[in-house]
Amino acid sequence: MPLLGFDRRRPMLAPDLVSIASRLRAAGCVFADEEARLLLSVEQSPAELTAMVDRRVAGVPLEQIIGWAEFCGLRILVAPGVFVPRRRTEFLVRQALGLCPSDAVIVDLCCGSGAVATTLAAVRPDATVFAVDIDPIAVACARRNLADRGLVFEGDLFAPLPASLTGRVDIIVANAPYVPTDEVAFMPVEARLFEPRASADGGDDGLDVQRRIAATSSQWLSPSGCLLVETGQRQAAQTAEIFSLNGLLPRIVRREELDATVVVGIAI
Ligand SMILES: C[S@@+](CC[C@H](N)C(=O)[O-])C[C@H]1O[C@@H](n2cnc3c(N)ncnc32)[C@H](O)[C@@H]1O
Repeated sequence: MPLLGFDRRRPMLAPDLVSIASRLRAAGCVFADEEARLLLSVEQSPAELTAMVDRRVAGVPLEQIIGWAEFCGLRILVAPGVFVPRRRTEFLVRQALGLCPSDAVIVDLCCGSGAVATTLAAVRPDATVFAVDIDPIAVACARRNLADRGLVFEGDLFAPLPASLTGRVDIIVANAPYVPTDEVAFMPVEARLFEPRASADGGDDGLDVQRRIAATSSQWLSPSGCLLVETGQRQAAQTAEIFSLNGLLPRIVRREELDATVVVGIAI
């Protein structure tokens, strides 16, 4: 994209870039130049562009405005009101790929936009991929991302999955909500106001949904199947204990650069 004003459709491109970036910077956007470029890259009228910048200044996540997020090198569609996939969750995907047998059956619980399921399906076309979320807006978004590469169900954790999967799932992945209820109020405005509370709030200690997942996983997993859950660094030991209590042999893995922690549990 030209940055110096030679684009016939947008002769004011360079001034736009500078003025948009300075508005974003003033609103506290750390990557203002990069964000301005991304906003300008969307095909739109000047009025629409202004409206987009206004929304960003109001705190709406950039990805919900431009309609996509980069995740593991893929463009994942992100609808307004849907949790924006985080870079740290790429670590969960990599851990799952490392354990994935051929022709695996994979379930992505709490799938949100479907970023994890979509990436796994893209990298492992031999796998059969299922995804579940309780939020109908997220489910619609995940269905667009997964398209014909997997099935997305709406409902509470394992409840909507076909009973025929019992004992046959090789990999269960979950980036379930894990923020303790008392800490939700301290989250950044983007998350607090523009992502659903159910995508963050994990109950008193943040681990309520993880507990429910671990309690039921064993009945869905194949004999050497694995449950992989993203968790907080300071919650990891407790997540691992929850796994042990539910018949899973846990291992904590951590990637410092991404501030990513995953607990991997193997069915025993
Ligand atoms: C932290 S977001 C993660 C989304 C996605 N896995 C990702 O990493 O981008 C958690 C998601 O869990 C979903 N969720 C919360 N409680 C759920 C439940 N009981 N059953 C299914 N999904 C649930 C929320 O709607 C939200 O989309």
